[in-house]
Amino acid sequence: MTNNAKPFLKWAGGKKQLLEELDKRFPAELESGEITRYIEPFVGGGAVFFHVMNKFDFEDSHICDVNEELIVAYSVVKNDVEKLIEMLDSLQSLYYDTPDQEKEIFYYEIRDELNKGRNSFNYKKYNQKWIKRAAQLVFLNRTCYNGLFRVNSKGFFNVPFGRYKNPRILDAKNLRNVSDVLQNTQIHLGDFTICESLADENSFVYLDPPYRPLSRTSSFTSYSKDSFDDGEQFRLADFYRKIDAKGARLMLSNSDPKYENPEDDFFDEMYSRFNIDRVLARRNINSKGHKRGPVREIIVTNYQSVPKNPE
Ligand SMILES: C[S@@+](CC[C@H](N)C(=O)[O-])C[C@H]1O[C@@H](n2cnc3c(N)ncnc32)[C@H](O)[C@@H]1O
Repeated sequence: MTNNAKPFLKWAGGKKQLLEELDKRFPAELESGEITRYIEPFVGGGAVFFHVMNKFDFEDSHICDVNEELIVAYSVVKNDVEKLIEMLDSLQSLYYDTPDQEKEIFYYEIRDELNKGRNSFNYKKYNQKWIKRAAQLVFLNRTCYNGLFRVNSKGFFNVPFGRYKNPRILDAKNLRNVSDVLQNTQIHLGDFTICESLADENSFVYLDPPYRPLSRTSSFTSYSKDSFDDGEQFRLADFYRKIDAKGARLMLSNSDPKYENPEDDFFDEMYSRFNIDRVLARRNINSKGHKRGPVREIIVTNYQSVPKNPE
């Protein structure tokens, strides 16, 4: 389905910058239609998910993330997009009508409301309360500093106010496009391992886990209250081997520790049975502006991925 849906949330670790490199390495069976299912266990903002959905047809697709707020947002866009648009429209008008010096207060009121509701919120069962929460999340994502999602150890959203002049809070056309794409997509809340039973020989699985920090100072791995340490990377490699054995085509990306330390063979050893390509990408969220330069990434596939020349 091609409708140009694109991410509706700005998300740390977004893979927009890497799409060109991923494109060159997608399995040929995506073009031929032999692959009928798409699975993305770490969907985040969905830059890769929407890109793939715009390019290829599947019988069904599955997205998963451990972040509850993200799953609330996707579910609401899927099930109640018109009600969400209505709420965002009134939030946007209220925000624009608020005098500049009071916008910050407005922002913190919404942030407090979102955080206060967290402990009693039912993330397991879809209901109408999800719509307001999704609207608050989209609003905060558009008006907060750097447009990112970050929570503290208790899971509370703690990004400060962003001071943008007239941020676009509502993009109704894109939300409707996203909703259309999601009609054929199952949305799962939980750990990546819940995708194991979904993968079969007709599946393509793209895995984009939180980065392994390249240096001790550049650790942006706190998307959720549970961190993704080296032990988690081992657990993921185990999962990779399990779904490889089921015959699924797999593509995984991560930061390349070898770039900073040529002796660091962490991923080379972990994925020694598979193909590892090293590529250059730009990072798009980093709170320190001077660190926005290119970084090396690795792409691990379980099939021969001869990079296709764009010419
Ligand atoms: C690098 S981001 C994915 C970015 C995405 N590819 C994009 O382009 O926006 C990693 C995602 O993994 C999620 N995550 C972290 N630990 C997880 C786990 N154990 N199981 C599933 N998702 C997890 C985070 O919430 C985050 O959204």
